[in-house]
Amino acid sequence: MTAEPLSPEPIAALPIVTVSGAVHAYGGQPVLRGVDLALRPGEIYALLGPNGAGKTTLIRVLCGRIRPDGGAVLLNGRDPARVPAARAGLGLVPQEIALYPNLTVAENVETFAVLADVPRAGLPSAVARALALTRTTDRAHVPVKHLSGGYRRRANIAAAIVHEPSLLILDEPTVGVDLDAREAVDAVIRGLRDLGVAVLMTTHDLDQAGALADRVGFLREGELVLEGRPRALIAEAFGERMEIQVHLAEEVDAAGQDRLAAEGLEPTGRATVWTRLDADGYAAAGRLDQRLREAGLAPREIRVREPSLAHLFTLVADRKLAA
Ligand SMILES: Nc1ncnc2c1ncn2[C@@H]1O[C@H](COP(=O)(O)OP(=O)(O)OP(=O)(O)O)[C@@H](O)[C@H]1O
Ligand SMILES: [Mg+2]
Repeated sequence: MTAEPLSPEPIAALPIVTVSGAVHAYGGQPVLRGVDLALRPGEIYALLGPNGAGKTTLIRVLCGRIRPDGGAVLLNGRDPARVPAARAGLGLVPQEIALYPNLTVAENVETFAVLADVPRAGLPSAVARALALTRTTDRAHVPVKHLSGGYRRRANIAAAIVHEPSLLILDEPTVGVDLDAREAVDAVIRGLRDLGVAVLMTTHDLDQAGALADRVGFLREGELVLEGRPRALIAEAFGERMEIQVHLAEEVDAAGQDRLAAEGLEPTGRATVWTRLDADGYAAAGRLDQRLREAGLAPREIRVREPSLAHLFTLVADRKLAA
């Protein structure tokens, strides 16, 4: 049997957008403290970070809506704050749905196409393409006010991509979208990525980010403190260790908490759920269960699972990692 030839490293496409050393303050209060970011065609990048970390400010800088106090932004080689024409390469889906409620989906998308200078002759095909890509064709003639949250969000994406931007920015794309409809929004984002669009999204939904993003970046107090592929970041932070989650039937007193802490367990956001990492996974969970029972702290349930992006996020936010 002959060995498969090693495939050569793919030649990385040039970035569509680069931010270098972006610094910005509002009224003397630093919000961005030297952010570097580059997005290439066909990648989904999820910008993560707690409230107030500077995500929306960074988006405004990327869009040329604010000129940073320091640093540079290049979108398709031009500074969008100085060269407004550069913004044609960008589509923005704001967190608040920005459509005309009384107009149909098709009318809305056509209106946005006109605003984005899509040539008149090309309007019908541009609108049809945007609806097809966002799977909203079956609602083309429905007024936006009658749409579900998921269709609304996708119609908003249609309006943002009708002029075929190379960079699509989505601020919190799944807020107000129920769980089932999220899948459809995610599928639309993947479809655009596969066409070569660079996608930058912010989200507080870490499960979505872990499943969808090719790369994630953690912004903390205006600094990008961790960046990479979700699986690689998780593997690097946790190695072979698994997360053991102990679910108690009820809250325990101080003595019980000391006992849990003595087992290396740490409290989580929920008083009845404690957690720890262990390379021994299931075997360690069994021993832990036994000891807790003997101590009169019978767990209702013990779960063993791979550490998640959410777990990593907590460590980063609490400065236990990449400080
Ligand atoms: N126009 C403004 N004037 C003054 N301060 C502002 C302005 N916009 C944002 N800020 C402040 O800058 C900081 C960063 O805000 P930003 O909106 O970028 O955060 P964010 O990461 O998008 O947060 P969230 O997750 O809540 O959307 C916050 O402390 C915010 O209060
Ligand atoms: Mg924001």
